[in-house]
Amino acid sequence: MKAIVMNGTVGREMLEYVERPDPVVGPGEALVEIAFAGVNFMDIGVRQGMAWTEVANPKILGVEGAGRVVELGEGVEDVAVGQRVAWVYAPGSYAQRIAIPATSLVPVPDGIDDRVAASVMMQGLTASHFATDFYPVQRGDIAFVHAAAGGVGLLLSQIIKLRGGSVIGRVSSQDKVAAAKGAGADHVIVDTEGRFAEEALRLTGGDGVHVVYDGSGPTTFQGSLDVLRRSGTFCWYGPVLGGPGLLDIMSLPKSIKIGYAVFSDHIPTPELLRAHTAQLFEWIADGKLKVRIGGEYQLADAATAHADMESRRTTGKLLLVP
Ligand SMILES: NC(=O)c1ccc[n+]([C@@H]2O[C@H](COP(=O)([O-])OP(=O)(O)OC[C@H]3O[C@@H](n4cnc5c(N)ncnc54)[C@H](OP(=O)(O)O)[C@@H]3O)[C@@H](O)[C@H]2O)c1
Repeated sequence: MKAIVMNGTVGREMLEYVERPDPVVGPGEALVEIAFAGVNFMDIGVRQGMAWTEVANPKILGVEGAGRVVELGEGVEDVAVGQRVAWVYAPGSYAQRIAIPATSLVPVPDGIDDRVAASVMMQGLTASHFATDFYPVQRGDIAFVHAAAGGVGLLLSQIIKLRGGSVIGRVSSQDKVAAAKGAGADHVIVDTEGRFAEEALRLTGGDGVHVVYDGSGPTTFQGSLDVLRRSGTFCWYGPVLGGPGLLDIMSLPKSIKIGYAVFSDHIPTPELLRAHTAQLFEWIADGKLKVRIGGEYQLADAATAHADMESRRTTGKLLLVP
């Protein structure tokens, strides 16, 4: 099969499109023919050596996708050959086939196509965790969403709106404003210079927001603290773009809640994974959650997908077609 393999860290040039032996299914695993693999900002972190360093190179990149089960290992009962499935956090997804523990697979209902299923496993589960668990948005809440036209940002904005909140989004260029507004953002601030806090405070009459969702690196951290109202919640989530560095807890605004949100820690069982994914699929089937595919690339062009994502030009989800 064909796969995108990394042989070292750092540059996109280290991504090689190569022939690899087909994976062999072990006990408890299913072999899946991949229809679409999702591209996530996290993959850039893996490529740069920030995660999965415990897995030796050369390794196949990618953690997310959707496809069809073609073979079952011993003892697998909860999926069947021919069934359409999706997954997240399964290393080796930038490929034509993958062997995955069957308990990590979620069934994809008939009304959801493979593109959409592959698009929401990482970014959709992340967005729903942020707005329903980490900070359960209440009717009337005002949320500040960074990278509001990105994969997580577009889904997060829609889920906040579904729950009756309003959204102030931040994007880096005018080109992204329409996408962010299309996801329901009530206001969109175009900013890369750190002016967003001032503007958000003006929009909220000086009160600030109930919750800020910030995965945009160290340069936005102080501004995100500044836009929070008393007792506000800071949902920090972006290790790839860098963290704020060492924090003196006593220097933080009093009364705020702050944490590093990662959905997988809160969805640790196959039952919870299927329940949370079923909720996403239901919202999509009901027309309440729209998935924007920002780009589809041939598997061989994975490095171009990474380059586009890093250049801040993309909106929505990027997919690879094996
Ligand atoms: N904690 C978790 O469980 C979890 C799960 C999924 C994703 N994440 C994080 O969520 C963030 C979004 O991920 P995604 O996959 O949905 O990607 P994405 O939002 O589609 O793309 C990344 C966004 O980050 C901004 N960006 C890109 N390069 C940047 C740079 N050099 N400096 C500042 N901003 C830059 C861009 O938005 P603007 O140009 O509009 O600013 C871009 O749209 C990432 O930080 C990712 O690591 C965390």
